[in-house]
Amino acid sequence: MDPQTLTELLDVTVLDRLDRIEDLPADELARSSALRKEGFSAEVTAGLLTQAQLRKEAVKKLGPFAEDMLFTRDGLAQATRLPVAAHHARRLLGEGADTGRDTAADNTGTDSTDADHADSADGDTADAPATIADLGCGIGADSFAFAGMGARVAAVDADEVTAAIASFNLRHLANAEVEHARAEDVDTSEFDALWFDPARRTTDKGSTHGATARIYDPEDFSPSLSWVVDTAIAAKSAGVKLGPGLDHSLIPDEAEAQWVSHAGEVVELCLYFGNARQRPGRSALVMGERTLLVHEDDLPDDDEDGVGELGRYLLEPDGAIVRAGLVTALCGPLQARRVHPKIAYLTSDVEPTGPASAGVSAYEVTDVLSAKIPNLRKALISRGIGSVVIKKRGADIVPDQVRRQLKLPSGDKATLVFTRLGERHVVLLTQPC
Ligand SMILES: C[S@@+](CC[C@H](N)C(=O)[O-])C[C@H]1O[C@@H](n2cnc3c(N)ncnc32)[C@H](O)[C@@H]1O
Repeated sequence: MDPQTLTELLDVTVLDRLDRIEDLPADELARSSALRKEGFSAEVTAGLLTQAQLRKEAVKKLGPFAEDMLFTRDGLAQATRLPVAAHHARRLLGEGADTGRDTAADNTGTDSTDADHADSADGDTADAPATIADLGCGIGADSFAFAGMGARVAAVDADEVTAAIASFNLRHLANAEVEHARAEDVDTSEFDALWFDPARRTTDKGSTHGATARIYDPEDFSPSLSWVVDTAIAAKSAGVKLGPGLDHSLIPDEAEAQWVSHAGEVVELCLYFGNARQRPGRSALVMGERTLLVHEDDLPDDDEDGVGELGRYLLEPDGAIVRAGLVTALCGPLQARRVHPKIAYLTSDVEPTGPASAGVSAYEVTDVLSAKIPNLRKALISRGIGSVVIKKRGADIVPDQVRRQLKLPSGDKATLVFTRLGERHVVLLTQPC
């Protein structure tokens, strides 16, 4: 979107039409011609239709607030989901973070209390930081959470259109101000806390089409990872949102590293520095219907790989736990063992229960089958299986290709897990628990 189109969209009449756009027929062409008949230009009509579509898509990330916001496609793609942004805010603003979460070590099934979670760096939640700089605020999702928690927020974005959109999105929050500026030009020394979410995709100047590519070299992030880390280390309190696939060797010793999943999807690696660093080391936070925190300290003391016989259940750990390298931390609480020293599946004789069960998807194993396609096909047909979900770890297969090769006639549903038991390549026939 260019600045001129944004200016036109920010007109009160246009915004009012956007708020009432659902009065028009859902069909895009009919909607477009109705808007043209009402006197809106072709550019504004296109802008209205795009914003209506982006608002709809944004509800998944930002809930009902999306209906009152503006977006670029890039900005929406990179925006933090609101529950995750609220978690960042709790961490950086010093409140008892993760209220209501359970930890892997606590598998007693008893509810944890808020008092258990008043875990800011010094245990004192009274002196919450009052000012925070969001250095690359995008459309403003993280700032929205910081301001919503009462902090005074100075948000900047190097892209003019994006900064203007953030300003619009934060207009109801008197304690948030947005500036069109580069993070590197901000005097960071005056803030109690800093937040960084460097751009990790190439920019297409705020277009609504989303034609961007992933940036692999952290020095090409904008701002660069080394600048971000140096600035975060020098701050009283700082948080840095990064992609979950970041090489572990790039995580500085000064940081607490937390991988986060939300609703089953690994969404970020977040580094916390200074007062925001609650517990040194690596952790995984699983957010969803239930919440679980797994920390490096939960890993078993012994050096053993924890591999054992396949049991009645196969457990697939949440992606954040896998990315954090904390799979074996679940073995104790879930009475589980690994199927292979290098494969992130666990197995157990008992169905997972208690808080740590939030960290796995469980499957009941009904058979161990050959991974050779003709033999597998025969075995599945003889068991009446006609529709399969295919999972794999430690197996060099392409699920769609295997599904095509199997050519199963219609029948029951099952989940096939291609993996290894020791040196043996096998297929586990399972049903989700
Ligand atoms: C990943 S997005 C931020 C998303 C934001 N946290 C949210 O939840 O909506 C990164 C933003 O940084 C901005 N940016 C890139 N380089 C910058 C720089 N040097 N200074 C300030 N902002 C920058 C981009 O324009 C982009 O909007």
